[in-house]
Amino acid sequence: MMKREHWGSRLGFILAAAGSAVGLGNIWKFPYMAGENGGGAFLIIYLALVFTIGISVMLAEFVIGRMSEKNAIGAFAKLKGGLWPVIGFFGVAAAFIILSFYSVVAGWTISYMIKSITGALAIEDPAALGSLFGDFISDPVSPLIFHAIFMALTIFVVLAGVGSGIERASKILMPALFALLIILIIRSVTLPGGGEGVAFLLSPDFSKVTWETVSGALSQAFFSLSLGMGAMITYGSYLSKKENIAGSAGWVTLLDTAVAVMAGLLILPAVFAFGFDPSAGPGLTFITLPAVFAHMPMGSLFAFMFFLLLGIAALTSAVSILEVVVAYFVDDRGVSRKTAAIVVGVIIFALGIPSSLSLGVMSDVTIFGKSFFDLMDFISSNLLLPIGGLFISLFVGWVIWGKAKEEIAAHDGIVPMWINAWGLIVKFVAPVAIAFILLKGLGIF
Ligand code: PHE
Repeated sequence: MMKREHWGSRLGFILAAAGSAVGLGNIWKFPYMAGENGGGAFLIIYLALVFTIGISVMLAEFVIGRMSEKNAIGAFAKLKGGLWPVIGFFGVAAAFIILSFYSVVAGWTISYMIKSITGALAIEDPAALGSLFGDFISDPVSPLIFHAIFMALTIFVVLAGVGSGIERASKILMPALFALLIILIIRSVTLPGGGEGVAFLLSPDFSKVTWETVSGALSQAFFSLSLGMGAMITYGSYLSKKENIAGSAGWVTLLDTAVAVMAGLLILPAVFAFGFDPSAGPGLTFITLPAVFAHMPMGSLFAFMFFLLLGIAALTSAVSILEVVVAYFVDDRGVSRKTAAIVVGVIIFALGIPSSLSLGVMSDVTIFGKSFFDLMDFISSNLLLPIGGLFISLFVGWVIWGKAKEEIAAHDGIVPMWINAWGLIVKFVAPVAIAFILLKGLGIF
């Protein structure tokens, strides 16, 4: 049997995993979720969930991946078998669903990059920008072209392989992303009046908090950290035994959270400085922000940098989602990486078509009162990921706990002091809290 490929270096792995985590979830979703849910209050709940449940589930996924050296489905089959691989099947299903609509939104960023160069975005009036955005996303053809371009880029990275594709791309793109982010934040917080936006994000208003807020924060934590569908199992499966996986889980969680908060600090001050509404929802990035840029000197340049940043973040995440499915076909079905990447990528592209059309010509078609786009997002982020995380926790806490402890200590032979705290979380806290928040959020009790 061929030896499994390993990451070239620890930094390469951390950048790839952080590349998976940092994406549209941080820069597009987080600021508008915080904007809609009371700013600082949402941030506090989010941070509490990330640093208890989130980080613990991430470590659990790394353990499962490295111990088995297998994809999301094969890992459970190898470590235990029985019904456990079903978790992996749900993960692969989630990967298809998430990437299908993720790539549609990522395609918008490419189009907006072009629009910022041509000057088409240099409009100060948010209402006019709103109709520009509305006309664009409801067009039956143009967003699909950008969706296709984005999927092609994703396929291209994945078919080049783990080391020469994913790791190499992450090592170039992630530093570029951090540099762009820092330039843009400096511009944003130094805008006159920007301080109000900082205050909004940092001072909590708990009067807006409901169970839906809490469940929104939980879904957001899973989505943003790429948890619950085996992306981190798959990336963990390419790790060598020398790596300190707990340290890596800490780094990835910290980087992802830092970027979400930084994106909040980038977007909210700018929104306040120009007197816009922070609870503008998903349009915040594509409507309000261009208006903000249009008010600034050299706005087109900053707009271009921003959409480039968003596109890069989306690409390194999309790659990890496609890799979940590709790794399964390569490991367990004997398909070549090239064939798997292309065929799966094309199927996901096709699945994205109704999502994109549901924002325009198909907007009358609703299922459970949701558009196809919203339904895909809801099923994956609000149901599949948290449920996946629940079972991943139970699996590590109850089924492979003894071996999991050894896996954590594999690099230096020392079982860390916090091991029982982690045990408590994966055995009890995470499963109970996830189940409770999920049921409360759905209004079931
Ligand atoms: N974490 C990515 C983001 O925040 C999305 C993602 C979800 C990636 C699930 C992989 C798995 O945009």
